[in-house]
Amino acid sequence: MTSKKITLLRYLFACVCMLLALNLLIDYFADKSDVSSSFSRLSLRKVYRYNGTVLSSTGNASSSGSISHSNNNTNNNINNSLALNSASTTNVSPFANSSNLQQQPQLELHSNNSLNQVNGSKETITTEPLPLCQDPVIEESSPFVPNITLESLDVINDQLGPLLEPGGAFKPKDCIARHHVAIVVPFRDRYAHLSIFLRNIHKFLMQQRIAYRIFIIEQTNGKPFNRAALMNIGFLEAMKLYKWDCFIFHDVDLLPLDNRNLYNCPRQPRHMSVAIDKFNYKLPYRTIFGGVSAMTREHFLTVNGFSNSYFGWGGEDDDMSNRLRNANLFIARYPINIARYTMLKHQKEKANPKRYENLVNGINKIGNDGLNSIKYDIYSYKSYPTFSWYYAELKISEQKS
Ligand SMILES: *[C@@H]1O[C@H](CO)[C@@H](O)[C@H](O)[C@H]1NC(C)=O
Ligand SMILES: *[C@@H]1O[C@H](CO)[C@@H](O)[C@H](O)[C@H]1NC(C)=O
Ligand SMILES: *[C@@H]1O[C@H](CO)[C@@H](O)[C@H](O)[C@H]1NC(C)=O
Ligand SMILES: *[C@@H]1O[C@H](CO)[C@@H](O)[C@H](O)[C@H]1NC(C)=O
Ligand SMILES: *[C@@H]1O[C@H](CO)[C@@H](O)[C@H](O)[C@H]1NC(C)=O
Ligand SMILES: *[C@@H]1O[C@H](CO)[C@@H](O)[C@H](O)[C@H]1NC(C)=O
Ligand SMILES: *[C@@H]1O[C@H](CO)[C@@H](O)[C@H](O)[C@H]1NC(C)=O
Ligand SMILES: *[C@@H]1O[C@H](CO)[C@@H](O)[C@H](O)[C@H]1NC(C)=O
Repeated sequence: MTSKKITLLRYLFACVCMLLALNLLIDYFADKSDVSSSFSRLSLRKVYRYNGTVLSSTGNASSSGSISHSNNNTNNNINNSLALNSASTTNVSPFANSSNLQQQPQLELHSNNSLNQVNGSKETITTEPLPLCQDPVIEESSPFVPNITLESLDVINDQLGPLLEPGGAFKPKDCIARHHVAIVVPFRDRYAHLSIFLRNIHKFLMQQRIAYRIFIIEQTNGKPFNRAALMNIGFLEAMKLYKWDCFIFHDVDLLPLDNRNLYNCPRQPRHMSVAIDKFNYKLPYRTIFGGVSAMTREHFLTVNGFSNSYFGWGGEDDDMSNRLRNANLFIARYPINIARYTMLKHQKEKANPKRYENLVNGINKIGNDGLNSIKYDIYSYKSYPTFSWYYAELKISEQKS
């Protein structure tokens, strides 16, 4: 009896030990994966991981730094949306300090001309306004070759920062940009992609004669990823800085491959990621609007932005496609040999099981599901040399049905 008892006790003890060990092991790996090996070279996550402090709540609601925001005008006109009003009342320039785009003195042109400088004030006419920028005309195929080597964000900030204005903004120096474009990137977790995206997209865009700024909208942990809601947030936050002409919604894992693919403002909503290497450079289906797409401010307001109902992967872009059709807008595209993209490798996302169901109901909800119904807090905002970062918590939930 006693020996049996002892062996039993021994078993129990062993079991407890094993459980403990397992626990430790799990903890150890959980910790590890949090600062996972591929990301550990990127300092962003380590330094600015959300730690439970609502940074912005101590800040100033009237400043350009953004605070909690919830539109409550659910039954009302989209055109009265907060976005436009708030933009017209703030004069904060998204291009650092050069708030006046129209009157840039042409110092560069005269700085080395000592004759002009010393002698005649008549000669140093700096009041002549800059010409309007012309879209670059590229006749022949002009491949853009992205460098997809992983590089630390710090290095990229150091390299590209001097060419940009704080917050990842840029405008041509020698002309006045016709297009002011907010590049909105919904984001979560993919720090490696972010760094590769930034190092390439700036190089690509700086030669396009547009003024732009990169907005990275990161969703806090807790709820499934809601790409569409993040894009709505990006729109609203970007509009607090400046009244952008148009918006390009850009997945962080897509990189353009041809310089003729201009990121300017489209007459009709433009689907841009037409030919992706992963899909053998073919358009999967005609109404597709995902990946990279461009819309003017008016387009976006007319359709009340994206639906906020799509948690998890898929559906939100097709819903937008329906919204556009409903508003008599149609989707334009560049030719397939221009609108080429490469997709960075990643694991497949968990699809949203309700995406088809949502899609069927979506058309009835345009008026009250979108820009006018989104609720969120910005926990943190930071202006990096190569991008503006918003850490957003959604205050809307997945609908239980
Ligand atoms: C969280 O971060 C903020 C800002 O970096 C800091 O002031 C605060 O002390 C941190 N809180 C904790 C609990 O670490
Ligand atoms: C908020 O803004 C007002 C005026 O714009 C300013 O006087 C005040 O100091 C600001 N408060 C903080 C905390 O920045
Ligand atoms: C939004 O409106 C509802 C009713 O219209 C009201 O109960 C609620 O308090 C409002 N929320 C905010 C944040 O104003
Ligand atoms: C903008 O310029 C003003 C002076 O013109 C200066 O005082 C201020 O610090 C500048 N702000 C930034 C963010 O550089
Ligand atoms: C200015 O002009 C002098 C001679 O006229 C030349 O040596 C110098 O390189 C010029 N500087 C710049 C920045 O062009
Ligand atoms: C100023 O202009 C006069 C003629 O207009 C010229 O002779 C003189 O050299 C100029 N001075 C300088 C410093 O260039
Ligand atoms: C890509 O970037 C890496 C550094 O991150 C550099 O060593 C390499 O030369 C670059 N490749 C090209 C083709 O420029
Ligand atoms: C917003 O205004 C535009 C033109 O001003 C109009 O075509 C559109 O239907 C309006 N949208 C709504 C929801 O009222």
